Amino acid sequence: MGNFNAGIISTGRAYPEGVLTNADLERMVETSDEWIKTRTGIEQRHRAAEGEYTSMFAVRAARQAIERARIDPMEIDVIICATVSPDQILPSTGCLIQAELGAHNAAAFDLVAACSGFVYGVTIANQMIRCGQAKYALVIGAEVLTRYVDYTDRSTCVIFGDGAGAAILGQVEEGRGILATRIRSDGRFAEQLFSPGGGTRIPTSTATLEQGMHFFKMRGNELFKVAVRSMTEVSIEVLTEAKATANDVKLFVPHQANQRITDAVADRLGVDSARVYSNIAMHGNTSSASIPIALDECIEQERIAKNDLVLLASFGGGATWGAVALKW
Ligand code: UT7
Repeated sequence: MGNFNAGIISTGRAYPEGVLTNADLERMVETSDEWIKTRTGIEQRHRAAEGEYTSMFAVRAARQAIERARIDPMEIDVIICATVSPDQILPSTGCLIQAELGAHNAAAFDLVAACSGFVYGVTIANQMIRCGQAKYALVIGAEVLTRYVDYTDRSTCVIFGDGAGAAILGQVEEGRGILATRIRSDGRFAEQLFSPGGGTRIPTSTATLEQGMHFFKMRGNELFKVAVRSMTEVSIEVLTEAKATANDVKLFVPHQANQRITDAVADRLGVDSARVYSNIAMHGNTSSASIPIALDECIEQERIAKNDLVLLASFGGGATWGAVALKW
């Protein structure tokens, strides 16, 4: 058993070329560009075409991260694929990704924690690296949510988009990397965001398909309040454990659920908008992929420099939530 510090050493991202704009949605359901923009901040979302699937984007994002980390896929000890929209129920999308990458030394599995999947994955990878069980971990958030979206339900179809983000975690020098992580859940909120049909409880049948039971159902308004409260609380917890305050945060990269959620959490934490990253206008809500996609964009835009304190926070179906404080 070792005692190492773990950190994110590289990232990557990928998403479909296809885009669904608010104007497209105006033609599909009773909504407006103005309503979507003011209530969510979203202007467009990427949407996978027929024949495109989750592991395709995951592999592209992972290849970028592996290349940038300058490692060989055979050096990866664990692949964690956070997703609620796997290629198929069996085998795990993680195993399919492993085969594509040629990362044959890695243990690979899927992690189901909805929009908090990446934060959950980073938390697990952090522990494995810290105790010496893994030298390199590949954590991916990958979703093709639009396969589960009911394009007659305006309360969900305007929100969700597709994409993947990946990060290689590895050992970093003392005093840097992941300083604190927290993951939480509360199953009493299960039916606030769920797809009721298609599992063992309500197996797929002609009737379940006709009733659209395989689609996501969401009570967004109720979740909104829980999201703001939970993300704020868990962010304060990790900052406290990292012996830091909101003033020390150089960049806050939250799950991109709704611009109003991001604004409310940042406001409660006391992080001004210049230190908050948002890409929801271009991607919508990509669930587990949103934080790694955002992180990769931040690095590309040079929004993060060495030794910056970065705060990640998420909230999703389950309900699940979590936060990570890291020194870049
Ligand atoms: O990813 C993490 C988990 N998910 C979340 O955290 C989701 C959080 N929730 C949200 O982002 C928001 O609740 C939504 C964007 C989903 C909805 O926004 P809202 O401001 O909470 O709207 P609402 O559900 O309270 O609905 C307000 C009104 C309703 O009409 P009435 O009853 O006031 O006449 C809705 O029917 O807006 C109506 N509405 C729409 N109108 C135009 C709902 N969706 C739409 C729409 N276009 N797309």
